[in-house]
Amino acid sequence: MEMNGTPVIAIDGPSASGKGTVAQMVAERLRFHYLDSGALYRLVAYTAIQSEVGFDDETTLSGIARDLDVVFTGAKILLKEEDVADAIRAEIFSNGASKVAAYPQVRESLLDRQRAFRQIPGLVADGRDMGSVVFPDAVLKIFLTADAETRAQRRYKQLMEKGIDANISTLLQDIRDRDARDINRSAAPLQQGADAILLDTTSLNIAQAVDEVLRRYHEI
Ligand code: CDP
Repeated sequence: MEMNGTPVIAIDGPSASGKGTVAQMVAERLRFHYLDSGALYRLVAYTAIQSEVGFDDETTLSGIARDLDVVFTGAKILLKEEDVADAIRAEIFSNGASKVAAYPQVRESLLDRQRAFRQIPGLVADGRDMGSVVFPDAVLKIFLTADAETRAQRRYKQLMEKGIDANISTLLQDIRDRDARDINRSAAPLQQGADAILLDTTSLNIAQAVDEVLRRYHEI
C-alpha cells in the first residue's frame, strides 16, 4: 500500500452519529481536506437506482463505483455535473448505500479514489473503515457514536433542514437495521478498532465534539 506523510484524522462510527458535521468542522479548523466516504457509497446506490441496476449485481455495482464521474467541490457533490449533495441523503439511498457497501468488489473499486483525497496539509476522513482499511496509518482514529434514539433525532433534524420528509420511528428502525448490516458484514465491518479513541456524543453538542477531536489531535 502506498503511504505518504500527510496526516489523516479518521473518524468512523455508526449512521447519524454526527461524524460528517464534526469531521467537516475539524477539517475547516485545521484547514485540512475533507473526505465524506459515505457519499461515495450513496452515489453508487443513487446511480444503480437511476440505471435500474439491482442491489444483488455485485459486478455491475463495482463497475458503477469505479466509473463514478464525481467532483466534490465545497458543499456540492457534482455527479456528471449535476449537484446531488442533498438528493443522496434521502433514506432510500442511505439504505441502498449500506447494501452496496457490503460487497468487497464495490469497496475495492472505491479505494484509490478515497486515498487520492490525502493531500497536503492533511485530511479528515469520515466513514466506517477509514482507520481500519483506507487509512490504517492515520495519526488519529476516532470512533464517534451516540445512542440510537439520539442519532434518529439528529437525522430527523438534518432531513427536515434539507426539506426532506421523515418520520422519527421509521428513522430509528432504519438506523438499527443499517447498524446491524454495517456491523455484521464480513467486508470492512463497522467496529471500534483497538487503536481508535471512543467519543460518545450522546450528551455532547457539535462544538464540544469538535473541540474534543482537536484536543486529541494537538496532543499527538
Ligand atoms: O450519514 P450516515 O452515517 O447515515 O451515512 P454515510 O456515512 O453517508 O454512509 C452510508 C452507508 O455507506 C453506511 O450505512 C455504510 O454502510 C456505508 N459506508 C461504508 O460502508 N463505508 C464507509 N467508509 C462509509 C459508508
